[in-house]
Formats: sequence, structure tokens, C-alpha cells
Amino acid sequence: MAISLNHYPLDPCRADLGARLHAALLTLVPEGGHLELTPAAISHLLEQPPERELGDYALPCFRFAKDTKKKPQDIATALTSILTAGGWLTKSVAVGAFLNIYINKERLAATVLPTVASGDAFRLLASLPANRAQRVMIEFSQPNTHKEFHVGHGRNVCLGNSLVRLYRYCGYEVVSANYFGDDGTHIATVLSYINRLNPIPPKTARGEWLGQMYVAAKRELESADPETKQKLLAEISKVHRQIETRNGDVYQAWLETRQWSLDDFATIYDWLDVHFDVLFYESEVSEAAQSTVDEYLAKDVFKLDQGAVGVDLKPYKLGFCILRKSDGNTLYATKDLALAKRKFEDFAISRNIYVVADEQNHHFRQVFKVLELMGFPQAKQCFHLSYGMVVLPEGKMSSRDGTAVSFHSLRQMMSDHLRAILAKYEGDWSADEIAKTAHQLCDGAIKYGMISTDPVKEIVFNLEDWLSFEGNSGPYLMYSYSRTRSILRKAGEHGLAPDISVAATELKAASEHELLRYLHDFNQVVAAACENCKPSLLATHLFYMCKSFNRFYVDAPILKAERRELAAARLALTSAFGDTLRQGLMLLGITPPERM
Ligand code: ARG
Repeated sequence: MAISLNHYPLDPCRADLGARLHAALLTLVPEGGHLELTPAAISHLLEQPPERELGDYALPCFRFAKDTKKKPQDIATALTSILTAGGWLTKSVAVGAFLNIYINKERLAATVLPTVASGDAFRLLASLPANRAQRVMIEFSQPNTHKEFHVGHGRNVCLGNSLVRLYRYCGYEVVSANYFGDDGTHIATVLSYINRLNPIPPKTARGEWLGQMYVAAKRELESADPETKQKLLAEISKVHRQIETRNGDVYQAWLETRQWSLDDFATIYDWLDVHFDVLFYESEVSEAAQSTVDEYLAKDVFKLDQGAVGVDLKPYKLGFCILRKSDGNTLYATKDLALAKRKFEDFAISRNIYVVADEQNHHFRQVFKVLELMGFPQAKQCFHLSYGMVVLPEGKMSSRDGTAVSFHSLRQMMSDHLRAILAKYEGDWSADEIAKTAHQLCDGAIKYGMISTDPVKEIVFNLEDWLSFEGNSGPYLMYSYSRTRSILRKAGEHGLAPDISVAATELKAASEHELLRYLHDFNQVVAAACENCKPSLLATHLFYMCKSFNRFYVDAPILKAERRELAAARLALTSAFGDTLRQGLMLLGITPPERM
């Protein structure tokens, strides 16, 4: 899937800088020559300088060496004398091959604050016609029934949920989908174990109990001597066939226990405020998987190979992809082909995203390649958002050693901790508000912890870091938001209110300008997070934006400001920061409490 941000409009500042730089560069082109890059392309080259003091933007000059027949350093120096202050530009400084650009502070405040206050800033991307014309399916979560929902599944749900929100915010029509793994040997393994040992299921938390039964069944199988193992495997395969033929007691037991897991998952989604537009089940695509094999075998896209059917992907360095074994059974990959076909045919999607752990990288490379060979042009629009594992500081989690953390226990540990902290409000706040705030904090701490790391990297789970109110954590960001609410409340009690109209002339301090820059960049960062499927880009931006706000809060007193206008302008900035942060957190799936 090709990533491009070209269909996003340029903000007025970049557009202006692009035009000015283009005109200045043209004067450096020798007669008869030409300048390859357009003003828009030049504005896309503008980078963030490594330090805020180095300016608002930096233009790397390497790309212009050919057209101007000059060294990049000389281009940067020449530009400083050609460019004159005007529009958004106030000053430019050459640093090596880079041109550092300083922008007009008044213009920045006058542009950012009104669009945030009116909410227009947050509606801008949703109106993009190029995005509105596209339907995107985001498949995520996809837990297997009869197994435990562990922290790794938690990372998946948090990522997928944020992607859904980012894509919607950017104007795409989104179909959020789940694909439950309710078919396969792992289920036959649990059911055959339960059948033999007849353990009594608890009255509640039956989904979790099934997960424990699965671990017990696996353990039994692995520790059995060869002869017993043979017997157990034969039994499992018999149970598997009974499930597939869909009648008899085993089938009934499958239906009933499967529902226990689905109910358990539903409580988790509910707690996380995660919703799906469509639910797919592996058990529902098995038949289509068989007919897909028949269809493409007849079309000669799939080949027979010693009784099995598959596709030779060796020319693409992807090995041989088996789609039907010689015993007639289809595989996980076959079901994915049938599922993708259904997605393309029934939902007319133009982008198809799968949020799945990196263990399945090879699987998705194969599936996407086979889809292409089957003649689906949409294969090019399929994207596997691959993410790394959640590990403990001590190393990998394993359910067998009892070091695996289930999502339920993660939630329990975190909410116990938060409730203890919030106990100080008892009596002051209603019990409802305390419970709601504890839920929001716990949910936000989990989501932020799961999202703030780049998806490709593994997460080292550390309870203390995730719950800290100071570091790069969900509680820190949520706290920064509630701080804005309390500042605005307190100001109101002193008869002060935000006033945008004085902001452009009043907000001159470096810390104010810096914070305005973070607000100004918000939509651009969101667009990049969306198109790259990396909510972590937004999380990082929000974190630095909060640090910037907290610097501003220390540097720029509000209630003790020298003048009422200055206080009103700072309140306008505080309010805009709060609105932008809240919007950003919502895109990560987090709802911050109004006070804490
Ligand atoms: N249920 C599968 C598992 O837990 C993940 C399914 C991912 N989605 C897909 N279309 N294959 O491994």
C-alpha cells in the first residue's frame, strides 16, 4: 500500500512558504535551466528542526543543487539574502545545507486559535473529497474462542480502535470488522479434554475458564507418552470432524462454549468502548474456502501437488502456499482468501487493513500475493499492520509458566491501583464520579501504554510507568487535560475568560509560540498517523505538546499576568490546547476525565 500525503491540503503557512521559497530559488537557476520542484513539493520538503530554538521549519537544500548548479550550503546562504520578510516568513538563517525559517507569531496565533475554538480545525480533514470517496475496512482484535484474551490481544484492540478513529477523522468511510477464530484444532483440543474429564464450569467468567481448560489440555497433550498422545490426538480429530459436520452433542457443546468466549470478549469491548460494524467468524468461511479452492483450481491459478492443492510462490521468494491438504481440509490461509473475496465483493472496499501480530508477517505476504494471482486488483490495497509482542521486563510471557498476563488481570491490577489513589476524593466526589474517573484513567493508561510505542517494536510492560502521572504515560496526558479545565474554572471564578481577539497581539513569549506550533501541526500529524497506520506518531506529538503546555504554564502566569488582556490571551491558548489534546486523545480511543 503506497503511502502519500499529497491528497491532504497544505496549511496556509506551508503553502505561503512553499511559494516564497519557489520564487527565491527560481532566481538562482542559471538561464535556460528550470526548477524541477513545484511550490507544493517544496513545502512538503520542510522539516521540523531538531531543536525548537533553531526555527519553525528547516529546508534541506540538497535537492536544488542540480537545478541551480550550486552547493547546498551556498544555496542556503544565497536564499537568506534573497528572501525578504513578508506573509508567514519573518527571518531565515543558513545552517550548513539547511535554511532555518522563522514564522510570524501573530499570524500563527490569529490562524490557529479561531479555527480550534470554532471546531473547524477538527472538521477540516473529514471534508476531504478524495478520502470521502474511499471505503476502508479495518479488521482487528480477531481473538480465538476457547482461549484466553491476553495482553497481546489488548495491544491489537487498542491499535485497531485508534486506526478506526483516525480514518474516520480523516474523512474515510470506515467499516470496522472482527474475525473470530471459532474453528480449528485448538477448539477440538479443549472440547475433547472437557468431554473426557467433565470438569464443572463456574457460574460466571466461563470464557476465562475455557482459556484455562485450553492450557490444561495442551499441557496434558505435551506431557503424554507417545502412546497416550496418539490416542488423544485421534480423539481430538474425531471431535474436530463432529464440529465440522455440525450435528450431535459435540456440536451443541461447541455452540454453547463458543458463546461463553464471545460473551467474555463482548464485556471487554464494552469496557474499552470499542465497536465493530461487522463480525466475521472463521467457522463461516470454511465452506467458501473449499469452493474458492475448486474455483481457482479449475481456473488453473491453483495447482495440484501430490494430492494437495496450492500455489507456488517460490518465484516471489514466498515458498509454496498450501491451500488444501491431501486429506481434503483447507487451511488458515485458504480461509483468508475466501474472507478477502467476501470483503471485496460484499463491501466494495478500496483499502483493506489487517491488524495482526508480526508472527503472521509471512502468512499475509503469501495471502496478498495469492490474491493478486487470483486477479484481485484490491490485493494492492491490502495492508498488514504488523505489531510486536507485549513482554515483561523479565522476558516473554508464557501461559504455561503462569507468567502470561490476561487482559482481565491487567485491568484488575491497574484499576486497583487507581482506585486506591482516588480514595482521597471519597466524600468530596460522588461514588459514581469516582468510579467513572477510575475507569477512564485505567482505560486511558492501558490504551496509551499499548499505542505510544511504534507498532513494529515490542512493548516492555511496566505497571509503574503506565500508571505514572509524570512520564510519557496516559495518566500524564489525561492530567494535563484536566489541568486546563481547572485553570479555566478558576479563572472564571476570578472574572477572567479566554479572549481570542487579543491573542495575536499578546502572545509573544517563546513558550507561547512553541505551544501554538504544536497546535498548528496537529492535523498534519494526524494525517501522517492515519496514512502510515501508526497511531504512535500522534501519541508522541501529544506527549510533546503536553510538555510544551506544562512549560508554558510555569513560564506564563495567568491569574498573575501583568494585564487582563494577557491573561485572557493565555486562557485562549490554554483552552485551545485543552480542545486539541482532548481531540487527539479521543483519536487514540481515550476519554480524559474533566477533573482529577
Ligand atoms: N484468530 C487469528 C489468531 O489468533 C488471527 C486472525 C487474523 N486475521 C486474519 N484475517 N487472518 O491467530
